[in-house]
Amino acid sequence: MQVLIPSGPSLNACSSNDLSARVARIIDDVAAQGWSLQTHCIAPALTLELAEECRKRAEAGLLVLAGVGRSALAVVSEGLRGDHIQWLDAGQSDACDQFLAAMNELRQALNQALYLGLEDFESHFALYPPGAYYKKHLDRFRDDDRRAVSVVFYLNEDWQAEQGGALRLHLADGSLHDVLPQAGSLLVFLSADMPHEVLPATRERLSLTGWLRRRGVGVF
Ligand code: OGA
Ligand code: MN
Repeated sequence: MQVLIPSGPSLNACSSNDLSARVARIIDDVAAQGWSLQTHCIAPALTLELAEECRKRAEAGLLVLAGVGRSALAVVSEGLRGDHIQWLDAGQSDACDQFLAAMNELRQALNQALYLGLEDFESHFALYPPGAYYKKHLDRFRDDDRRAVSVVFYLNEDWQAEQGGALRLHLADGSLHDVLPQAGSLLVFLSADMPHEVLPATRERLSLTGWLRRRGVGVF
């Protein structure tokens, strides 16, 4: 399997573990190339808590096999996805609230810099059992264009490239870019412009996946 290690402006390791320090880089990357990957983006302790919470929810049977959603995605293929999910609500736990606060900070910064008019954030825990995948798709529904920016925060300690499970971006120039689901990595991309897929892994793969959304223009 081809694994491309991120390089150049999209790889920004930083010792502060603070999303605030990354927001400017995320904005620059998104403006320049439509996506941004930030490693060690949220404090390791919080990342661990979020991973534990995801596992606890899974053990409690709260994660359910994901459907395509309330309506068809813009780009679909057969046997689309095999992840189990549970949507996040504010007030469920300290860790989740801290994550939601960080995403709200990102939302406001993107609005200020890029005038995206992002009004809210929806997100879910996702667990891919070994072998599960999500085929190539766009994060857009056919009849609902509110999702503007996709955000995936990974929760997997010590992920190795040989374990598979990369998020594969299909870039506009036809090239592929694989992102490993490493704990602490935050991937941000423009939902309408970036076809992507999740490759099967040999181990369980946890993430928090969310969307910054615009006002419901075009919803019917
Ligand atoms: C999604 C998705 C990517 C990932 O849920 O729409 O593409 O890496 N997730 O989990
Ligand atoms: Mn997606």
